[in-house]
Amino acid sequence: MKIAMIGTGYVGLVSGVCFSDFGHDVVCVDKDPKKIDMLERGEVPIYEPGLDALMAKNVEAGRLSFTLDLASAIEGAEAVFIAVGTPTRRGDGHADLTYVMAAATEIAEMAKDYVVVVTKSTVPVGTNRQVKQTIKKANPTLEFDVASNPEFLREGAAIDDFMRPDRVVAGVQSDKAADVMNELYRPLSLRDFPVVVTDLESAEMIKYAANAFLATKITFINEIAALCEKVGADVKQVSKGMGMDGRIGDKFLHAGPGYGGSCFPKDTKALARIGQEHAVPMQITETVITVNEEIKRRMITKLEDLCGGSFNGKTIAMLGVTFKPDTDDMRDAPALTIVPALVGGGAKVRVCDPQGQHEGEALLPGVHWIEDPYKAAQNADLVVVLTEWNEFRGLNLKKLANKMAVPHMADLRNVYSVKDAKRAGFEAYDSIGRMGFMKD
Ligand SMILES: NC(=O)c1ccc[n+]([C@@H]2O[C@H](COP(=O)([O-])OP(=O)(O)OC[C@H]3O[C@@H](n4cnc5c(N)ncnc54)[C@H](O)[C@@H]3O)[C@@H](O)[C@H]2O)c1
Repeated sequence: MKIAMIGTGYVGLVSGVCFSDFGHDVVCVDKDPKKIDMLERGEVPIYEPGLDALMAKNVEAGRLSFTLDLASAIEGAEAVFIAVGTPTRRGDGHADLTYVMAAATEIAEMAKDYVVVVTKSTVPVGTNRQVKQTIKKANPTLEFDVASNPEFLREGAAIDDFMRPDRVVAGVQSDKAADVMNELYRPLSLRDFPVVVTDLESAEMIKYAANAFLATKITFINEIAALCEKVGADVKQVSKGMGMDGRIGDKFLHAGPGYGGSCFPKDTKALARIGQEHAVPMQITETVITVNEEIKRRMITKLEDLCGGSFNGKTIAMLGVTFKPDTDDMRDAPALTIVPALVGGGAKVRVCDPQGQHEGEALLPGVHWIEDPYKAAQNADLVVVLTEWNEFRGLNLKKLANKMAVPHMADLRNVYSVKDAKRAGFEAYDSIGRMGFMKD
């Protein structure tokens, strides 16, 4: 089957590469000439483990190509995917649909034969109907269907998530479109990965409901963590005990510095906005958004305490700034709230992140980027583990503590323990939802 994929970001590129690996002929289109240039040279513009090899394999097999020219990509395609960004609209929290609607108009202007226009971008309920109207208006004689196919992949594990999904959701309005969707995902359904066919609105809602639920689960355990610190409980033990309950499950129960990333912050805001527009306030989601902001700010207070009450004149080594490990994505990362507060408070901040510098340089002004965590900690007053990259999970804590002027650690991912920190010679250690210690 021939497919055109509009947008070669985290979702479009991974989806395009994986569909080509299923055996489909895929042409990926982007408006950004720099990205297309890189892709044509065989370079991957984002950091996603395993993507470069899978891309090279399918380009070599002649099933995958890249272009700036939408018309040629669409020619003969049975499905055209829209996988462009839907960032938060300035001012009201709504998803900005400018890019989706622009892509829909371009498809309408260039498509000649029957095609299924599949929205993979995360879009508010009703958007697929809007896409349909937009195409109909621009090209009244075109035969086409729309389909909603929200994506659930996680950055850092995107290929595995796409190839081995818990489920694929396909919202359709016609049998013809359902047939195309089933054909596209046949390699998965043959291996018993479920393809759930729904109406358009339900498919759109599933994505927002799923993300809001996961954001709620993380925020819930983060709030419990704050209480654990006051009552002397250990949130790691609490999570473990809770997660063993089959009705709860152990995923998304790791306490940390607050959720961030390209999806949860914007999707929770968009869901809250959709609720307001329909006079059905999403009160739980609205509270989650507020509590998550408070949690991020609570981290700043924690760090301030470890610096003796003020950041002024302190040197702080920040290990990890991407919103999670194994990605270069900095969108809405907790680091974007925490690091500016340290810099603004007069601290010298050294940042070490295996993939974050390229994106992070513009977003975190006034910091020094250092590749080696031990060099970053040299003569520092505080080391902070903010993103749990593998590189920071197995640090030689003794070596780290020895390099520091004041061996204090904030472990905002609960990678280490009080025992580890004391044994290594740290004089103060704090983490999330567990008792820390401070030498008098
Ligand atoms: N990133 C994730 O982990 C993730 C997971 C699930 C769903 N989603 C959703 O998928 C969508 C895409 O997210 P992303 O992270 O891949 O975005 P992104 O910003 O990384 O990529 C979007 C790409 O689309 C291109 N583009 C925009 N308009 C275009 C046009 N008219 N023609 C051609 N190219 C165009 C941009 O140049 C960019 O390369 C969003 O709606 C997001 O919510 C993202």
